Amino acid sequence: MAKAKTYYFCQECGYQSASWLGRCPECGKFGTFVEEVVKAEPAKGKQQGSKLQSVPKLIQEVTYSEKRRISTHCAEFDRVLGGGLVPGSLVLLGGEPGIGKSTLLLQTALAITDQRLLYVSGEESEEQIKMRADRIGEARAECFVVSETVTQRIFEHVDAVRPDLLVVDSIQTITTEEVDSPAGSVSQIRQCTSEFQHFAKSTGVPVLLIGHITKDGSLAGPKLMEHIVDAVLQFEGDRNYGFRILRALKNRFGSTAEIGIFEMAGNGLREVSNPSEFLLSQRDETLSGAAVGATLEGARPMFVEVQSLVSSAVYGTPQRNANGFDMRRLNMLLAVLEKRCGFKLGAKDVFLNIAGGLRVSDPAIDLAVACSILSSNVDIPVSPRYCFAAELGLGGEVRPVSRVEQRISEADRLGFERIFISKYNLQSVDRSRFGIDIVAVGLIEEAFRALFA
Ligand code: TYD
Ligand code: MG
Repeated sequence: MAKAKTYYFCQECGYQSASWLGRCPECGKFGTFVEEVVKAEPAKGKQQGSKLQSVPKLIQEVTYSEKRRISTHCAEFDRVLGGGLVPGSLVLLGGEPGIGKSTLLLQTALAITDQRLLYVSGEESEEQIKMRADRIGEARAECFVVSETVTQRIFEHVDAVRPDLLVVDSIQTITTEEVDSPAGSVSQIRQCTSEFQHFAKSTGVPVLLIGHITKDGSLAGPKLMEHIVDAVLQFEGDRNYGFRILRALKNRFGSTAEIGIFEMAGNGLREVSNPSEFLLSQRDETLSGAAVGATLEGARPMFVEVQSLVSSAVYGTPQRNANGFDMRRLNMLLAVLEKRCGFKLGAKDVFLNIAGGLRVSDPAIDLAVACSILSSNVDIPVSPRYCFAAELGLGGEVRPVSRVEQRISEADRLGFERIFISKYNLQSVDRSRFGIDIVAVGLIEEAFRALFA
């Protein structure tokens, strides 16, 4: 019988210590140490007795059967995974509570008809899973569901069902008998994740784990979970809008530049293959304060509408507010507009909104943001058939952006008439390829003159 031992774990980063510490030497956070009971590892003599199983091979001699990736039957999901699930891989799907992780994986489980599946939930009963499945309305054969929270029982179920794919909802509710601390604690999460990884590697059955993330956006539980798994996917979006973005933060078998876009509907998630057409509202041509930015989300072009409202400040300190855009960057752009273009925005309230509830971090949206603010300020509309792709520097210079040709060709395809880019981007563009009118500017003033003069 293994002897129980206690350790102190930092709940932020998983740092382990024999005694309680006020400040974590690893991540520097204060008061994060919690005592957890861990069963002692089996006596050393036992391990020494085991036979060596692995043999080092020359890399040229290592062969692998062209193991087929398992398609999730969902183009957006497959794309993010890098073309489907790799046999024996362990994939972590993170996201805030209520964002739709369970829905995504259950829907995927129901759509995969050519594989045998086991969906384990530690959060919902079988009836609740069935209710959700009925809502999605795609009940197909060969998807087994069970409500279970102990890994040892889960592996017994796996032995009985023999699935080709295992889904576990969520790692924070699962416990192992090896560790005595409560579900969701650092040592539990670490141990359970390793058990699933061992299972996946030894059987070749891919495992999809759901994990919750905390308010600040990191996965609840230790960071080290991210080191164990093969891929970390994040499901994000604004809960008040239908949009959901699936992003790969880490992927051993694919690119992290790909994203998948979904829309939450009444009957589950719907794939959105062309987000721009969806995001660009049919707006009135006479509306000032709106400009379209040609951004890239990962490797995909996404055209978003930036809306601004500039009005005289009622109170002494003007208000600034940004939805879906970094506040500090907005303040910086306002300072640039003030200094370089001579607009007295200091006495104005500025409100900025990215339509559709998206968060844009691509710097290529700067020019669209600046033009939408200027448009609202002078109350002259920017044509909805114009779009912008450039970054703004502190000197008011319009800077080049990455993959400008991709943005231009997408703008062309979507039927825009004119795209504003940096003149430093011009040499990498073959103008003859595009029907769209390309306007190259070097300074923000030039863009302003071209639009409003
Ligand atoms: P859920 O998958 O339970 O979130 P998570 O597992 O990430 O915590 O999704 C919960 C939300 O999704 C809930 O607020 C209701 C909504 N929803 C729909 O809008 N349509 C649907 O078909 C389903 C199943 C859920
Ligand atoms: Mg859930």
